[in-house]
Amino acid sequence: MLHPLSTEIYFTFNNGNKVPAFGLGTAAQHERVAETKQAVKAAIKAGYRHIDTAWAYGVEEYVGEALQELFEERVVKREDLHITSKVWHTMWNDVDKSLNESLARLKVDYVDLFLQHWPLCTQKVPDPHGVDKIAKEPVDDQGNPLYDEKGDWIETYKQIEKIYLDKNDKRVRAIGVSNFPIEYLKRVLKECRTVPACNQVELHPHLPQRELCEFCSEHKILVTAYSPLGGNGAPLLELPILKGLCEKYNASPNDILTSYHLRQGTIVIPRSLNSTRIASNLEFVPLSEEDVNKLNEFGQKNKKRYINGAVSSVIPGFKEDFLKEQLQQS
Ligand SMILES: NC(=O)c1ccc[n+]([C@@H]2O[C@H](COP(=O)([O-])OP(=O)(O)OC[C@H]3O[C@@H](n4cnc5c(N)ncnc54)[C@H](OP(=O)(O)O)[C@@H]3O)[C@@H](O)[C@H]2O)c1
Repeated sequence: MLHPLSTEIYFTFNNGNKVPAFGLGTAAQHERVAETKQAVKAAIKAGYRHIDTAWAYGVEEYVGEALQELFEERVVKREDLHITSKVWHTMWNDVDKSLNESLARLKVDYVDLFLQHWPLCTQKVPDPHGVDKIAKEPVDDQGNPLYDEKGDWIETYKQIEKIYLDKNDKRVRAIGVSNFPIEYLKRVLKECRTVPACNQVELHPHLPQRELCEFCSEHKILVTAYSPLGGNGAPLLELPILKGLCEKYNASPNDILTSYHLRQGTIVIPRSLNSTRIASNLEFVPLSEEDVNKLNEFGQKNKKRYINGAVSSVIPGFKEDFLKEQLQQS
């Protein structure tokens, strides 16, 4: 049976906008950010139509350069692309500024999706290596996170919503959140008018987060899976449970890991700076419901979070994992 490529699958947000379900992640390591330009060009030329980026990644100018060249070369039109950006927690009370900076760096007039990156408020601490010379994860001399005592994370979503609901403001086409547990989503649903179009969270066979995904589905919030390969070095490609599936479907571990999300109606945004990989990881694998369930059951019994930091440890669900990993490493 013929199947679409992963790049040909589209889902629909709760505001009716279509979103390509498979995108390119761009959270490159600090020393490799400039390579993002060739990665974005390779991806779009290979058929990707969705780029996930963020103010905090420090790559938006390279994404912007790539987009401008692609438009000039007539490879793609702006309206055929989906671009996501996000506002970081040091900018929790500066959403308008953050959005304008993202748009200027991306060299576009609007983003298709604008997300609150984390439900956190942290202080602006100078750091020559940070985006706009602001520390990304501000900590004191003892390594303790520097939260902004005046801050309430819901304020960031309210500022994003204000931009979205202003009929004269065309800068964002859909809005959403990232790294929001259920209790945080409940507060947004209670205090704000706009149901997030999406919640972007870490998701893979070691962290299936079924309860969160079911809650999102009930409330028409699409889920986006970040770090689908386990982040730097793609450790999940070595998962023993994938071996049998690769043989059964005659597919690569990479394609199994991304199709696992697409099969469940979840958007997925793997990252690579390697243009050969970018162009070759596009096969959609029609995993059976039984095999998807097997992967979910594995994760429920073998929970492991790859993306975690001292600052996010204040969010329920993140702290416990973080401490557990610290203990395992010591
Ligand atoms: N909202 C949030 O808080 C948040 C957090 C984390 C990530 N994200 C988003 O999600 C995206 C993806 O997550 P991620 O960047 O953490 O990591 P990921 O996509 O799980 O993995 C990226 C790593 O996998 C490697 N890789 C990719 N394909 C491979 C292949 N076929 N064989 C071997 N290695 C391969 C890449 O190296 P090469 O470059 O060498 O291929 C890179 O080291 C991010 O880029 C970002 O856009 C969002």
